[in-house]
Formats: sequence, C-alpha cells, structure tokens
Amino acid sequence: MHHLLKDFLKVTEEAAVKTIPWVGSGDKNSADDAATTSMRENLNQIEMNSIIAIGEGELDEAPMLYINEEVGTGLGVELDIAVDPIDGTTPTAAGEDNGITVIAAAPKGTLLHAPDMYMEKLVVGPEAVGKINIDAPLMENVRAVALAKGKQVDELQVVVQERPRHEEAIAKMREAGVTVHLFKDGDVLQSLRPCIHGNDIDMFYNIGGAPEGVLSSVAIKSLGGEMQGRLVVRNQEEKKRCVAMGVKNPTAALRHHDLIASEQGMFIATAITNTLYLKGIQEDSTHYQTESLVVSSLTNDYQIVKSNHRVLEYV
Ligand code: FBP
Repeated sequence: MHHLLKDFLKVTEEAAVKTIPWVGSGDKNSADDAATTSMRENLNQIEMNSIIAIGEGELDEAPMLYINEEVGTGLGVELDIAVDPIDGTTPTAAGEDNGITVIAAAPKGTLLHAPDMYMEKLVVGPEAVGKINIDAPLMENVRAVALAKGKQVDELQVVVQERPRHEEAIAKMREAGVTVHLFKDGDVLQSLRPCIHGNDIDMFYNIGGAPEGVLSSVAIKSLGGEMQGRLVVRNQEEKKRCVAMGVKNPTAALRHHDLIASEQGMFIATAITNTLYLKGIQEDSTHYQTESLVVSSLTNDYQIVKSNHRVLEYV
C-alpha cells in the first residue's frame, strides 16, 4: 500500500488547490463539490482495486464517492479508502482557518463503514494506551490518563470542540482543575494532538462526526496512540442506517480495532486554509504551495510535506 503514498498525496493536494476559488465565497456546497470531484478523478487513476468505506454519503443519496463505490483502475492492491474532501466546510467557505482535505487508507475490509452521524470519541497518546475505556464515565478516564502519565488531574490538558452538547463534560473537567482547550471546527487534526510529540495535550474528548472519527483512527493507530468511540444513535432512523451498513450493535463501544482492524494504514491531510501544524495554500503568479501532514504505518510517525504546483496546470 505504501508505494501509493505519492499518489494519495496528489489526491489531497489537488483537491485542496481546486477549492481555492471557493475559499471565502460563502458557498460550502460548491467548495465541497470541487474537492470531491477532484478527489474522485485522481483516485480513479490510481492502480488499485479499492472501495470507499467512508465517503460523501450512502448510495441512495447518490453522491460522488458514496460508501461502497469502487475506486481505482480495478487492478492492484485492495484497500478501504476513507475521505473527507473538506473537513471544515464552514470555515473554508467563510475564508477562515481550519479547512483541510483528508484521506486515509487501510487494507480492504478493515475500516468501519460508519454512517454520517455523531460519534463520541476518546483519544490518548502512547503513554496512556490500554488505560482508557469509553464505557466508563469521562472523569474516570481523566483520572486513568493522569495516573498513566504520572500527573495530577489538575495538570492535565484536554481538547474538546466548542459545542453546547459538551458543556457538562467541560464543566466537570474544569471543576477538577483540568485545562480544557476549545476549538471551533475540524476535529480530525485536533484529535491527533495527544499523539503528536512536543505538545502537552493529554487527551481528546469529543462528540463529532463518525466519518471523521474513522479517518482519525487510522492516523492515531500509526502514531502509537489509542482511540475509542461510540456512535450516538439519536432515533430509529439512525439506528436503521447503522444496521443497514453492517453495524450490528450501533450503541456498543467501538474499540480501536473496531474502527481500524489493521496495523497497516496511511493518512494524509492537506491544508486549504491555515490549520494546526500546516500553513494554508500560498499562491504567487506561477505556483501554489501546499502543506500536508502525512502519517503512515511505514514509519509510525508523521511528516510535513511541502509541494509546489504550477498554476498553469490548474487553468
Ligand atoms: P464539516 O466540514 O463536515 O462541516 O465538519 C466540520 C466538523 O467540525 C467536524 O470536524 C466535526 O466532526 C463536526 O463538524 C462536528 O459537527 P457539528 O458542526 O454538527 O457540531
């Protein structure tokens, strides 16, 4: 699979560049369409026999890159592909920070096919692997992480998305002295923070998109961290969608191997606008410059890749 890293990098880099006309346009759908169309075109040129495990929606909604769509030339390595053509459509359309294009891949049959609904997510870095349990109350996990890291609870730093649904969790953690860092949009890169060296984030807790959760799980596995999740089933219709997609018990805890059942994987995120770890697309009269975060099980680490793209190739 890793021989395709450069091809996958091209997929996210070009999708990011194709969104440029829509950054700050206020038009989320056109931004998303531009990135999705570009991703699909490039994926279909790659020598592989793959399917979309996480995409733009289910077949009956007839989107491009629907779940179970076959992608690639039909010959070559068999992969499950997860895509989010734009994570952060709202900030991208508003011309603000935190828009990325993102892709992940793992051997065929190993990624959870998650419907587009919410997932509760818990992430820790290597020092706390084996110590978390999504079935336990949040504060029990907080104490377990503190113990694993040889810290007091009031020395912990946790990242959470700024949403009303998290108010209670945030209040509980702050009462115990935990420092809670809030972010507005784009939980894929934020979820990697406990696993990236040189920052002091101990835990990520969030109820965000389930598809984004599967994308994160691939990178977190290669970075030596742990992720657990649980689908947030709000009604009968969501329950039916889970079952239709093969999730037999939709409210069961999802351990890391339920999200990605392989040690092999690769993950690439290219910034559209400035974001964590990455500068947004820079342009002058001849070139666009992109920055991408590349994580793979080949190195079990991450790299930041800067590329130049000739403007002429995009007119
Ligand atoms: P979109 O780009 O699909 O809007 O997702 C942005 C995002 O912040 C995700 O990263 C996160 O998982 C999700 O939205 C949270 O959902 P909501 O905005 O409904 O709280």
